[in-house]
Parts: sequence; structure tokens; C-alpha cells
Amino acid sequence: MDMPFSDKAAKPQTRSPSARREPMSDPFGRAITYLRLSVTDRCDFRCVYCMSENMTFLPKRDVLTLEELDRLCSVFINKGVRKLRLTGGEPLVRRGMMAFIEGLSRHLQSGDLEELTLTTNGSQLSRFAQDLYNFGMRRINISLDTLDPDKFKSITRWGEIDKVLQGIAAAKAAGLQIKINTVAVKDFNESEIPRLIEWAHDQGFDISLIETMPLGEIDGDRTAQYLPLSRVRETLEAKWQLEEIDDRTGGPARYVRVQETGGRLGFITPHTHNFCESCNRVRLTATGQLYMCLGQEDKADLRAVVHSTDDDEVLAKAVDAAILRKPKGHDFDMSRADRPAVRRHMSTTGG
Ligand code: 5AD
Ligand code: SF4
Repeated sequence: MDMPFSDKAAKPQTRSPSARREPMSDPFGRAITYLRLSVTDRCDFRCVYCMSENMTFLPKRDVLTLEELDRLCSVFINKGVRKLRLTGGEPLVRRGMMAFIEGLSRHLQSGDLEELTLTTNGSQLSRFAQDLYNFGMRRINISLDTLDPDKFKSITRWGEIDKVLQGIAAAKAAGLQIKINTVAVKDFNESEIPRLIEWAHDQGFDISLIETMPLGEIDGDRTAQYLPLSRVRETLEAKWQLEEIDDRTGGPARYVRVQETGGRLGFITPHTHNFCESCNRVRLTATGQLYMCLGQEDKADLRAVVHSTDDDEVLAKAVDAAILRKPKGHDFDMSRADRPAVRRHMSTTGG
């Protein structure tokens, strides 16, 4: 196949910054340069902290077509979004994803988009990793909470670790940079975390640990799952030297370098850290609902606008109006985990 993104061609001509539009700015002066798009809320796994076993998904008739999602993404990119992450659910279970990604890669080639990335559970990567690379993707996040096959089954309910490990190997072989996302779950993977970090760093992967967030109804008790990363970090500090590095992503991740392994380790701590002041992102669902904050219910219905007009200027104005409603911060509180902070699941808006 033709490879438009050989490494030589990987640095598309970038326009001078002055020729590029100023990014959108929210009421608190934060530049909005990052869009996360959940292309589907469906998934081939049922992770216990994410979903209940019998999920009700978004009605199919409400889900936008990939053409409509492409149109929406393009409006955001036109308005200064520089980084686009495809999430879910599991993005690679939606039919037509490779053609969709190939289409979006035109924005990489033009230089309007700096980065196109993906968050995946890895189950489909054996099939798709090489295409992702060919369409200009360079980094992906893969979720993996344990290396133990039985535990993997119990946390994902439906997943098979062999498929995921093969997918990870395929992604590595294709030349994609990999970050492993590990949700820290109390009484489940706490003792295994050092081993997971060593495994990731051995293969040249970054790894981030994530605290559970109270999003959506699940079957179990969220308080019982919640493991504060401050505690995990203490354990790791007894074993290794962690050197702070200043790799800010505009999100809740803080990074350290593990001196002994040489690898990068992130801590994603929505509860114990206030990261909202540097938030640069908004989230779009498969049904065209724009969430200005992961931890709030407010949303803007862009699907109605998409369906009402072919004029992208009207759509751009609706986006502007939504950004003006971006709140100062979220409102997670694990001490009130008897009910979710927001009713929708992570899979609706993407992680
Ligand atoms: N809290 C924290 N992380 C979650 N994820 C899904 N649901 C939750 C939750 N309630 C994680 C997935 C994946 C990332 C995108 O989000 O495991 O690693
Ligand atoms: Fe699927 Fe990811 Fe949710 Fe697990 S955490 S059920 S892999 S969307």
C-alpha cells in the first residue's frame, strides 16, 4: 500500500503560526486545542469500573455517521484544535474506522492537525496497527490493568489477554509509540503495579496509572474500587527513585522518570490533584453532544446543528457558544461514591 506517512514525509509543511487561526479561548482564558471524540460508546469488553454487565448504549439512530463526525472534527480543527484523540467505548469496533482515520489524516498532511491519536483496549490492534501507522498515527494509548490472564478476565469480564498482548506487539512492530493506561483498583492490582511498570518500561512503553472516577452506574461499589494513587506512589518510592519531569499535557497526568528502569510513569489523579486550571480539552460523543468538562453534566447539542444546516459557519458559531460555557472545574467527590458524580459512563464521552 501507498505510505503517505513515511518518516521522511511525516513532518508535513507547517504553516507559519501567524497564518493559523488563534485557538478558541474559554471564559477563563484557557486555549482549547484538544478534542477527544468518542466514536462509539460500545465496547467488546465490560470492565467492572467502567460498565455494568447489561449496558444500555446510545440509540443507534442518534449516532452520527462517520461523515458527520468528520465534518464536526474539521470544524474544530479549523477553529484551532491541534490534537485529536479518538476514544470510546472501543473505537476500533466501529465499522469503517480505518477509512474515517484515513480521511482525517488529510489534516495531518496539511499541518493543521499536529497529532491524531487513539485510546484503545488493544483487542483489535493485530488487525489495524499497521494501517494506523500508515494513516499518520504515531502514538496510541492502550488500556491494560493486569498481566494475569484470570485477573484480566475478571476485570474486563469479556476480554482475552492473549488477543490484547498480540495487539500490543503488533502496535510496537508497526512503529507506534505506546502508552499503557492502568486503572488502579483496590484489592485487585495494587501489588502487581511494580511488575506492570517494569514490563512496560522493558519494552520502551510509557505507563500511566489512573484513579477510578465516579462516572455512570456500574454493578459494584465504587468506593470499594477506589485506590488513591498517593498510596501507590509511596510504595513505588520505597522501591525506586522517581524523578519529577515537567511533561504537562494539559490534563490530570503528572509524570516522573523511574531512575532504575529509565521509563516514564504518569499519575492521573483527578481527585487528589487540581488540574482544571490548565485544561485544554473538550469531548464530543458519537451522538454529537459536546461536553465541556468530564466531571459536569452540561453539554451542547451539536447534532441538532449538524442536521439543521450544511453551513459550517453556523456550526462554528455553535461551537463558540459552547466553549463559552466551559466551567472552571469538575466536581468529583469519592466520599460520595454511593452515587456517580455524573450519570453518563466514561464510554459515552471517552477517557
Ligand atoms: N475511572 C477511571 N478510568 C476509567 N476508564 C474507564 N472508566 C473509568 C473510570 N470510571 C479508563 C479505561 C481506559 C481509559 C480510557 O479510561 O480503562 O484506560
Ligand atoms: Fe471498554 Fe475501555 Fe470501558 Fe473497558 S474501560 S469496558 S475496554 S471502554
